[in-house]
Amino acid sequence: MDLSRFLSPITEALAARHYGDQPLELYEPIRYSMSMGGKRIRPLLTLLGAYLYSDHWEQLALNPALAVEVFHNFTLLHDDIMDQAPLRRGQPTVHVKWNPNVAILSGDVMLVRAYELLFDIEPALLREALQRFSQTAAEVCEGQQLDMNFETRPQVSIAQYLDMIRLKTAVLLGFALELGARLGGASAEDADHLRRFGVDIGLAFQLRDDLLDVYGDAATFGKRVGGDIVSDKKTYLLLTALERANAAQRATLGHWLGLNSSETAAAKVRAVTAIYDQLQIRPRTEALINDYFQDALAHLDQVQAPAERKALLRGLALQLMERES
Ligand code: IPE
Ligand code: IPE
Ligand code: MG
Ligand code: MG
Ligand code: MG
Repeated sequence: MDLSRFLSPITEALAARHYGDQPLELYEPIRYSMSMGGKRIRPLLTLLGAYLYSDHWEQLALNPALAVEVFHNFTLLHDDIMDQAPLRRGQPTVHVKWNPNVAILSGDVMLVRAYELLFDIEPALLREALQRFSQTAAEVCEGQQLDMNFETRPQVSIAQYLDMIRLKTAVLLGFALELGARLGGASAEDADHLRRFGVDIGLAFQLRDDLLDVYGDAATFGKRVGGDIVSDKKTYLLLTALERANAAQRATLGHWLGLNSSETAAAKVRAVTAIYDQLQIRPRTEALINDYFQDALAHLDQVQAPAERKALLRGLALQLMERES
C-alpha cells in the first residue's frame, strides 16, 4: 500500500461531489475552490487513521474524510478574506475572483455540507464525532481570532504564538486522524495518541507554512510570498527575530511593523527578510519543526497497530515537514 491508494478515492469522490446549483454565485466558488487541488492531507490522515485498524477504511471513513476537507476549504475562503490574500493554489482567491460577500456565504454553505458528510457515520459513533468536530471547529475560530488580534498587538510571546497555531491549524489535523482511527475501531487510548501525533505534526506544519511564506517559491507555494511580513503576522520567525535582534535590527523591525502601505510592501519584505537571514531564523525554525516531528513520532510509537500501517503515517508526516507547497 502506498499513499496514492488513499489519495485516489479522495480525489475521485471530490470530483464527483455535488454541492448545489442555484444561485450560481453561491455554489460556483465551492466547485472552484474544491477543484483547484490542494494536498488533501487532512482527509488522508482520516483514511490512514481508519486503515490502522480496518481493511474497510474506505467504506467507514471516506465521507467523514471529505467532511474534514470541505471544512478545511471553508476556513480557507474566510481566511483569505481576513488575510487579504490574492492567491491560493496558484489561482485568484474567491474573494478576489468574486467578492468578499460571495466568499463569506459560499464558505458558510461549505460548513453545512461538511456536517452533512459526517451524518454518514454509524449511529454508535456519530454523537461523539459531531461533538469532537464541533469542538475542533470552534477552536479553529478561536485560533483565527487570536491570529488577527496578534497582528496589531506589539507584545506576543512565543508560547502565545504556539498556542494560537495549535488552535488555528494543529487541532484540525489531530481531529482528522483521531476521527479516522475511531471509525476504524481504535481504543480510546490509541485515538488519543494519534490525536496528539496529529497536533504535533500540525504545529510543525504551520511552522513550515510560516517559513514558506518568507522563503518559498511563489510558483510552487501557490500563495503570495511575504504576505505574513506585510500584514505584521506574529510568526515564530518574527518573534524569534525580535528576541535575538541587536539594537539596530530591533529599530529596523520596529520601523517596519505597522507600516502597511502597498507602495512600500516589497521594501518591507526585503528588509525584514534580510534581518531573518542575519539572525539565522530559517535554521532555527527548522530545528523547532524537527522537535515537533520527534514529539509526534513518540506518540506514534505508543499506538497499538501494525508497524507497516503506522509507517504510512510516518511517511506522510515526513513529506509534510519537507514540503515546498
Ligand atoms: C493551508 O493548508 C492552511 C494552513 C493551515 C497552513 P494546506 O497547506 O493544507 O492547504 P492545501 O489544502 O494543501 O492547499
Ligand atoms: C491558516 O493560517 C489557518 C487556517 C486557514 C484556519 P494561514 O493564514 O497561515 O494559512 P495560509 O498561509 O493562508 O494558507
Ligand atoms: Mg490566516
Ligand atoms: Mg492566510
Ligand atoms: Mg500561511
